[in-house]
Amino acid sequence: DGAELVDSLGRVARTLRVSLTDRCTLRCRYCLPADGVPWMPTEEMLTDDEVVRLVRLAVERLGVRRVRLTGGEPLLRRGLVGIVARIAELRTALGTPPRIALTTNGVSLARWADDLAAAGVGRVNVSLDTLDPELYAAMTRRDRLADVLAGLAAARRAGLTPIKVNAVLLRGVNDHEAVPLVRWAVREGYRLRFIEQMPLGPAQEWDRSRLVTAAEILERLRAELDLVPLPAAQRGSAPAEMWQVAGTDAEVGVIGAVTRPFCAACDRVRLTADGHVRTCLFAATETDLRSLLRAGAGDEELARAWRTAMLTKPAAGIRTGLVAAPDRLMSEIGG
Ligand code: GTP
Ligand code: 5AD
Ligand code: SF4
Repeated sequence: DGAELVDSLGRVARTLRVSLTDRCTLRCRYCLPADGVPWMPTEEMLTDDEVVRLVRLAVERLGVRRVRLTGGEPLLRRGLVGIVARIAELRTALGTPPRIALTTNGVSLARWADDLAAAGVGRVNVSLDTLDPELYAAMTRRDRLADVLAGLAAARRAGLTPIKVNAVLLRGVNDHEAVPLVRWAVREGYRLRFIEQMPLGPAQEWDRSRLVTAAEILERLRAELDLVPLPAAQRGSAPAEMWQVAGTDAEVGVIGAVTRPFCAACDRVRLTADGHVRTCLFAATETDLRSLLRAGAGDEELARAWRTAMLTKPAAGIRTGLVAAPDRLMSEIGG
């Protein structure tokens, strides 16, 4: 269908990742500098109405079926619950509501889990790199581990499941915690995924030669755990390769963003907090829908601009051995 978001390789975007703010409550070393960065000026950010307008266009006319709200930290967005409720009222061309998910650092999730579930969020992915409070404070520069654990528990009670926990392993920092994290996740019923660190934060924090690779993570896990691969067909467009932890119903995964890229099956398109379409995490260009929207463009014109933008989607974000860091930080793109 020519109306959908198809790129030049024929990949169709069914998942829209919307960054609702570049601000964050944490300062994870691999993501932000200690002093933070100059935040995006409020007037440049899409208003709640503008966010909903663009999401509606994507869902009703452009074939998007899943919406993931990200940040920075999306729970910092004042209008979040209202935005979710309005997205939940939309219907795709199939007549179904879009699936709504959230990626959060979990710090204030205990406060919001029930409201989010009631408004229409189906599930949450929570970032957590260590279970050691001191190491957590060192890695995120904020002493908030207890809040995140409370947030996870609240999300589980609210039924925002399956809950995925994202962990980035840094060599010599928290890489010794891979197995303890898995054992904890198995006990708690969370789906843990280790993510290879990508060059998306402060430049000095990423060093290819020190990267904790997917292969190395698997080797560490397999030394102590029996992992059964889940069928490749089950993966679909997901970034994670998943294994079942034998003898349990828990699954654990690895997102090999650098060494095992999954671009060929990519079904994602991103919208930044300032209303730019980004066809890839590592895209070299963006398409400014906000200016069009504020100049009074109608849905048809916006849809055309969005479809045209898709033609610039690169075949691969990171090609093996070749990495060009994008001109925006992870906190602005939303992962
Ligand atoms: P689900 O699989 O639907 O649960 O979502 P997700 O894993 O795509 O979302 P999440 O926000 O939890 O992202 C997990 C990690 O995968 C983050 O580090 C993202 O930056 C990374 N990721 C997600 N999509 C892409 C992508 O298209 N390319 C790359 N390189 N990384 C991605
Ligand atoms: N590389 C890999 N993952 C990252 N995240 C943030 N920065 C990076 C990076 N440079 C993770 C966060 C969060 C997810 C959205 O992306 O930990 O779980
Ligand atoms: Fe915030 Fe997420 Fe970046 Fe950490 S990784 S500073 S939680 S946006």
